[in-house]
Formats: sequence, C-alpha cells, structure tokens
Amino acid sequence: MSVRIVIGAQFGDEAKGKITDYLAADARYVVRTGGGPNAGHSIHLPEGLVVLHQLASGVLRHGVTGVSGPGMVLNPSRLEEELEDLERRQLLRGEVVLSDRAHVILPLHEIEDAWEDELRTQRDPAANLGTTRRGIGPAYADRAGRWGLRMADLTRPAVLRARLDLLYATKAQVPGLPPQEELAAQLSEVGGRLAPLIRPTEPMLWDAVARGESVLLEGAQSALLDLDFGTYPFVTSSHPTSAGALVGSGLPPTEVDEVIGVAKAYATRVGAGPFPTEESGPLGEFLRRVGGERGATTGRARRCGWLDLAMLRYVARLNGLTSWAITKVDVLGGLEQVPVSVRYELPDGSTIRDVLPSQAEDLAQARPVYEQLEGWPEFHERLKERIRREGAAALPASLRSFLERVGRETGVPVEYLGYGPGRDETLRLNVPLTQTTRGHRSAGSG
Ligand code: IMP
Repeated sequence: MSVRIVIGAQFGDEAKGKITDYLAADARYVVRTGGGPNAGHSIHLPEGLVVLHQLASGVLRHGVTGVSGPGMVLNPSRLEEELEDLERRQLLRGEVVLSDRAHVILPLHEIEDAWEDELRTQRDPAANLGTTRRGIGPAYADRAGRWGLRMADLTRPAVLRARLDLLYATKAQVPGLPPQEELAAQLSEVGGRLAPLIRPTEPMLWDAVARGESVLLEGAQSALLDLDFGTYPFVTSSHPTSAGALVGSGLPPTEVDEVIGVAKAYATRVGAGPFPTEESGPLGEFLRRVGGERGATTGRARRCGWLDLAMLRYVARLNGLTSWAITKVDVLGGLEQVPVSVRYELPDGSTIRDVLPSQAEDLAQARPVYEQLEGWPEFHERLKERIRREGAAALPASLRSFLERVGRETGVPVEYLGYGPGRDETLRLNVPLTQTTRGHRSAGSG
C-alpha cells in the first residue's frame, strides 16, 4: 500500500481527472491538495460526463473517501451545488470530507479577481492574466495576509462575524461588495449544512498511512502554473507541484512512494502567458477540434501546440517524478508526423534543455527546435478493442517508440497511457517501456 501523488506536468487540462479516477480504484483516500473551483476534472463515466471542481475524484467510487484538503480554497455555495448535482445523478458513491483548515472563497473574492484582472489590463494589456475569475488569487492572498476565513469558522457564528468584520476593513477599495451582515448570515447557513463534512483531515490521513491504506494525492492545475516555479506572473496562486501536494495535505515527504506526472501527447494552455510550442494556425485549430480543447470550468477555447521536452525535463526534476502518464495519444492518431520540441534556442544563441528561465519574458523569446517523429494510426474501435484485450502488445510500433523517446529524454518511464476519454481507455504498461536505471535523477544533463 502506498502514498502516490498525481500532478499535471504542463499548463493544466492534461486529463489528470481521468488518471486519478483510474488510480482511485486502488485507493482508500483521494485528496485534493490545492486550488479550488478554478479546476475542472472531467471524468467520463458510463452514466455520462462528470466535471469535478472542488471535490476529489474519490467521491465517485464506493469505499473511497474523497478529501478536499487543507491546501485548498473552497467556495462553499459552489461546493453545495456540486454535491447536489452528484446526489441528483446518484453518482455520489464515496464519502466526502472537507478540511477544517481549507480557506473560504467569498463572493467578494470573485469580485476582486475580476476587478484586479481588469485593473492590470487597463494599466498594460500585456499584463492581463486571464484568470478563471473564481476568486482564487484574492482568497490565497488573504490566507497569506492572515485575513482569511477557514472552513471551521463557518460553523462558529461569532468567530465568523469577527473574522468577516476584519476582512471587510481591508476591502474598502473593492467596488460592489455584498452587505457584510447579509453575507455573514448566508455563510452561517451554508456552514450549518456543511458542518457534518468538515473535520481535521491530516490525522485521518496519518492514521490511514499507519494502517497501510493507500492514499492518492490529486493535484489540480499543473507544475508550470506553480506560483514560484511556473511562468510567473502567468500562474495560479497555489503550488501544484509534488512539494505542494504535501503542504496541501499535511502528509510528510518520507511517506511518499510514487510521483506520477500527467502530460498530454501535445500541449495546451488556457489564459495568458508564454507557450513556446503554440500553434496559432490551422494545426492549432485541428488539435483544438479533435482534442475537444475547451476549458471545463470557463468554456474558453484552449491554446494548442506540441509536446515540449524541455518543459517535461524541468517538471520531472522539479517534482521527482517516478513515472509518466501520457494522455490523449488518440487525438494525434492519423498524423503522418508528430512534431516534438527537443530543446529551445534563445536569441543570444544559447540553448535550453531542461531549466526554464525565471522570467516569462525570456521564455516568450525561446524558439522551439522540433524533431518530426513518425505518427501512428487512428484509434478506431478495433484498435481500442485489441488494446483492451492484449494490452501494450497491441500498441502501434511508432507510438511505442514515441513513448520510449519521452522516457529516454526525461529519464522517467512512461507507465500509464490514456487513449480515449472513457473510464476503460487507460492502459497500465506493466513493464514500463523505458527502463531507466536511475529514474528521474538521470534527467537533465543541461
Ligand atoms: P486562477 O487560478 O483562476 O487565478 O488563474 C490563473 C491562471 O491559471 C489562468 O491562466 C488560468 O487560465 C490558469 N488556470 C487555473 N486553473 C486552471 C486549470 O484547472 N486548468 C488550466 N488552467 C488553469
């Protein structure tokens, strides 16, 4: 039994929800460790599509506890809607637990989020972040500033009123805030309804690990949107890295057995910020159409481009990845050649292989150097059926060599493969295609 961390390795939307759902079948606890309703984890069940925003994907499985962990920022009203929707569809099968330490997103945080992004844009159109406008940045800012409300506060009306009063004192400049008393009453009501789900989650997880039960830490967003190590300032306000998953759950690093990085066979980004392998022409449109690349939370069209090995090497080292899950390989099926960026060249003639620059402006200048790899056939139903029956042996040879190449270049073996949206369209490569003797430590020779 084990503690496993799943993180996104690009700019989000790598089909983490699908991989986490697959791994949740072996888990006793699934824990969301950061972010909030900015996430949209899509899971295709036989009953239909489910998009989870604030709940861990474990809530969809019998016998699993889905924990919304202490590193999250939760919008209680939206959370209630999510719970009600799952209940109505009879899909709420696991137990739901909400950390008492998770911070609360208030309506005023959503107002502030939109107001701040507009302010940035007015000062400098290039500074627009294109946030999801779910109040993430302002809620994390109040957490760090020690003005925030936490889930436990919602169950104590007197504490709630006192904290809200202080918080309002800091928001005088924000236009359109709801009346304080009205908000306090509303929050107390929601808090009363959610109270049975709110409890300390870290001792629950420590005890589970001590009993030898499996815990899966489900990262949201992605390493390249990390507040410190992503493309600052075009990032989210949490830490979607393996280190962040520990802070966001309260589990110690000594308990971690595996860190799985999820990457699509190509790349997408939603919102602003540098994206060296972006294809703005018809090829980008092709990826968007075939891959269904539209934001699960905001419905925005995603920017599309090619797999970027410099980014994957960086993410492998930053997170100590032990394996890859490569998803959506079916989207590229039928292309004669698959472009992959193997490194960048900068205007001064220097080369980047695996250490991304700290300045987003420098990354924006990086020119990807492509290799054209041999494409693989379309994933028609007959091929999918053979893969279900025969496993990795049924994979087209060119796809196998693509996956081997990713493993060799990053020093991390590919162990999971997503070849369609369905719950049964994930393959575990029992013998990883690339045997790397030194794991992630062999990555990145500069
Ligand atoms: P925020 O997290 O709403 O503050 O948005 C900051 C940046 O992160 C924006 O570019 C968003 O589009 C991006 N972002 C946040 N959450 C996700 C996600 O779950 N998938 C992809 N992009 C995201």
